[in-house]
Amino acid sequence: MKRLLITWVLLVSLSVLFFGFAPVVRSVFGETGGAVIHAYTLENANGLLVRLLDYGATIQSILVPDKKGQVADVILGYSDLEGYVEGGSYFGSTIGRYSGRLGKGQFEIDGRVYTLPINDGPNTLHGGFNGFHKRLWNANVETVGSFPSVRMTYSSPNGEEGFPGTLVVTVRFTLTDDNELIMDYEAFTDRPTVLNLTNHAYFNLRGEGNSDILSHILHVSSDFFAETDEMLIPTGSFCPVEGTVLDFRTPLPVGARLDVSDRLLARAKGYDHSFLFMRSLANELVLSARLYEPDSGRALEVWTTEPDLHVYTGNFLEGVAGKHGSVYGPYTGICLETQHFPDSPNRPEFPSTRLNPGDRFQSRTIYRFMILP
Ligand code: BGC
Repeated sequence: MKRLLITWVLLVSLSVLFFGFAPVVRSVFGETGGAVIHAYTLENANGLLVRLLDYGATIQSILVPDKKGQVADVILGYSDLEGYVEGGSYFGSTIGRYSGRLGKGQFEIDGRVYTLPINDGPNTLHGGFNGFHKRLWNANVETVGSFPSVRMTYSSPNGEEGFPGTLVVTVRFTLTDDNELIMDYEAFTDRPTVLNLTNHAYFNLRGEGNSDILSHILHVSSDFFAETDEMLIPTGSFCPVEGTVLDFRTPLPVGARLDVSDRLLARAKGYDHSFLFMRSLANELVLSARLYEPDSGRALEVWTTEPDLHVYTGNFLEGVAGKHGSVYGPYTGICLETQHFPDSPNRPEFPSTRLNPGDRFQSRTIYRFMILP
């Protein structure tokens, strides 16, 4: 194992030296429905390793050293393809067409009502039964400057899971030497439609399978959260975080106030909330969240151009068989989903999720890892 790692690091260093870029290594991950699924491994100069799958444009693992140099995989997931095909937890996958809930599984565009499959109580969650996380994406290895990059594209046909318009979506994943995993999203449609894209990685900075995330220190600088009803559908109001368990403007352990009898946490048995980020310039990158795990020294910053950071503490995980024999229960991972607000197509007061033919949807999210002493 050690010899393999040394050979790998040597190969990467040589290619950077001679060819000016870090390679992306492609390997077979499994097979489903007659299609071969590939994994793409990206490495940077600091030994950060990111593994992507073309199934669901999924981040399958992120290996990050701690302050003592010990490497751990900081996201939840499955070791094999079967987990991703059968599983219902959206581990590390790209979510679309619509991340979050669409109330009663319907919305209207230009007077026409579109009805979607219902997969969450009376609502549609994360694009329906077979959203983008269950699709095979077309992957192309690229280099951005000298950094390894994989561009994943999926063409979602008109009517898929009830959504109008053929939507061509691209997510380009780039790993930089500043320990940033950059996700650049782009989409085009041939008729008016709605979309909301995110990545659904569950982070555990101690390493997946190593206890819960309740002692991770979370900082979210937002002043407002989107109020939701008993089915977790936004009511349309934004409420101040001031004086509530959702106030993370001063960094605090995730578990410090996680009391499921609190009126704001009871419905989802924990955090499952959308925080508003306003900006003076459109498409400005803002720091939406900072997560820090004191024992390992690992820290993560989430930068985004999106208006909503949805924080979900894995409340509904229950005995999920994860990687290498890990079993994931509630609060064993935390999702920091950058996106537009749930149910926006039914909430004209929210930032719009509509895309018209001829327009380009574009957004950027960055996961930036740090190791603190
Ligand atoms: C949602 C949760 C949901 C989870 C499913 C999150 O994005 O906010 O309510 O249960 O995804 O994994």
